[in-house]
Amino acid sequence: MIGKVLPVARGIAVLALVGVAFYAAFHAVQAQQSDQPPERFIAPVDVDTAGLPGPVQPIFYRHDVHAGQYEMDCLYCHYAAEVSSSPGLPSLDACMGCHLLVGGGNPEVAKLRQAATERRPIEWVEVHKLPSFVRFPHMRHVMSDADIKCQDCHGEVERMPQVYQFSSLKMGWCLECHKKEEVTTDCTVCHY
Ligand code: HEC
Ligand code: HEC
Ligand code: HEC
Ligand code: HEC
Ligand code: HEC
Repeated sequence: MIGKVLPVARGIAVLALVGVAFYAAFHAVQAQQSDQPPERFIAPVDVDTAGLPGPVQPIFYRHDVHAGQYEMDCLYCHYAAEVSSSPGLPSLDACMGCHLLVGGGNPEVAKLRQAATERRPIEWVEVHKLPSFVRFPHMRHVMSDADIKCQDCHGEVERMPQVYQFSSLKMGWCLECHKKEEVTTDCTVCHY
């Protein structure tokens, strides 16, 4: 009787050891993986525009899909942000480079293709607008040595299905950063 039980017990012990070894190895791999960046962001599929902050746009173009999920660089579309006082918005051609092929069946992409066929520019609704008596050289901020990111002023645009104004754009907001970065706060640099 004992002679039969012992080999079984030994078998169980061996199995347990193998199990522990696998468990440890598995966790070592997991620990290694957790050093890597978190999983890729996937934009939610169903989003109700009406419930979102910011103006509703003529086409439901989504930054969370393009800049978030597909990790497109901001400057791919807003390339003038580095060189111009007002960065402006991408042309239809910048969209159609992909959307000749991508997004068939999506009604919002259909609107885009229709506009492209008619050579009719999209009338995007402006999100940010400083009063005309304020001078804001956009490119100086993007290109400054202060290492300011788009997100410092515009928020996490790559997570926004619809863009909204993240910062107040009030004079106090400008001054706060200028003081922190030791940039001029002379009235005449910002006011014409
Ligand atoms: C595929 C092209 C594309 C990419 C990439 C892109 N954008 Fe945009 N962006 C647009 C379009 C089109 C609009 C106008 C429609 C809207 O406001 O959603 C816009 C609008 C904006 C606005 C609001 C402009 C206004 O009216 O004041 C901001 C701010 C902005 N983008 C910042 C960013 C930032 C920051 C990134 C990178 C994280 C980025 N964008 C990436 C196409 C793009
Ligand atoms: C220091 C703050 C700041 C930073 C950094 C910044 N922006 Fe802006 N951005 C603004 C303000 C303020 C406006 C509104 C300007 C106006 O109304 O004249 C604006 C306007 C815009 C617009 C609307 C342009 C238009 O012509 O209507 C876009 C697009 C934009 N920013 C994209 C970007 C992108 C992309 C980056 C990063 C490469 C960036 N911004 C970095 C503050 C900033
Ligand atoms: C580098 C390629 C690329 C460029 C450039 C691009 N898109 Fe897209 N777009 C995509 C991809 C990929 C999807 C996701 C398609 C899908 O999920 O079926 C998408 C989805 C969309 C959608 C559907 C939104 C949704 O709910 O998924 C719209 C609308 C759209 N794009 C508009 C635009 C506009 C407007 C521009 C130009 C400002 C633009 N795209 C530029 C690749 C691009
Ligand atoms: C997040 C920080 C930050 C914010 C917010 C900010 N600025 Fe600036 N600004 C800077 C930095 C840094 C520089 C210096 C850039 C350089 O070295 O060329 C600068 C430079 C400037 C200049 C050029 C100054 C010169 O010497 O010619 C003007 C004008 C200006 N900003 C206006 C504004 C206005 C208007 C606002 C608000 C609407 C604003 N800034 C908000 C950081 C900021
Ligand atoms: C860094 C940029 C910056 C500097 C420096 C600056 N301002 Fe402003 N100022 C703004 C912005 C942006 C606005 C518009 C937003 C607002 O009303 O807060 C503004 C608005 C104003 C207004 C109109 C307020 C209203 O309610 O309509 C007055 C007046 C003004 N500034 C005076 C001054 C004086 C005086 C100085 C110097 C002591 C000064 N500003 C320095 C950015 C600046």
